[in-house]
Amino acid sequence: MADCIETGICYWLTGLPGAGKTTLAGTFQRRLRSAGQQACVLDADVLREGINRDLGYSPEDRSENVRRIAEVARLFAAEGFIVIVACIAPYRADRERTRQRFPEGRYFEVFVDAPVEVCIARDPKGLYRKARQGAVMQVTGVSAPYERPERPDVVLTTGALSLDGCVDALLTHLGNYVDTASLRNAKDGFGHAPYGFASPGAAGPKQLPRGDL
Ligand SMILES: Nc1ncnc2c1ncn2[C@@H]1O[C@H](COP(=O)(O)OP(=O)(O)O)[C@@H](O)[C@H]1O
Ligand SMILES: [Mg+2]
Repeated sequence: MADCIETGICYWLTGLPGAGKTTLAGTFQRRLRSAGQQACVLDADVLREGINRDLGYSPEDRSENVRRIAEVARLFAAEGFIVIVACIAPYRADRERTRQRFPEGRYFEVFVDAPVEVCIARDPKGLYRKARQGAVMQVTGVSAPYERPERPDVVLTTGALSLDGCVDALLTHLGNYVDTASLRNAKDGFGHAPYGFASPGAAGPKQLPRGDL
């Protein structure tokens, strides 16, 4: 499946509203870009303004939302991007289906894990407050289910670990898969970073040049 994806990679950040997905995705992307990497963010909230604007928050629509984002992520990964998805993706089955769309070692589930009380206290979009007031019905973690990942590739406890600490953990994880020699190469004339990827485990773990990231 998806053998055309030879250089790209996808990190899917799943977790409750307010867990930190959008914040982490943006910071991770900036750190990668400053190291000359092609990284893009697919934020579910942004995609819901366009490609997914016909979708609501029923279980069926949430699944379709995930399916479409996964397909867009595949396209970018096939073009060599490091794709960072910020999307709740509350159902385990949808997340497993997404994983199946990528080759082994090209897709990683990141559980952005903060206690619901922390998310409620942060409430970056005022969603929990609106739910309490009865203004919105389907808030994940309150009135709609969130199926916690059982075997995530990375867990980031954003209630305990700083933003920089979380992004460091992502970069360290990525360093196990990215060929660091090519990571150090400058971009080519078309803006493509000509990096390659080691097979997982083929040459042992590799560390990114942390100073550059
Ligand atoms: N370690 C951390 N990682 C990410 N966000 C954090 C962290 N610690 C505190 N925050 C804060 O938590 C909030 C998360 O909001 P946001 O990224 O919009 O969440 P989500 O996209 O998951 O709904 C932000 O205000 C962010 O500054
Ligand atoms: Mg968000």
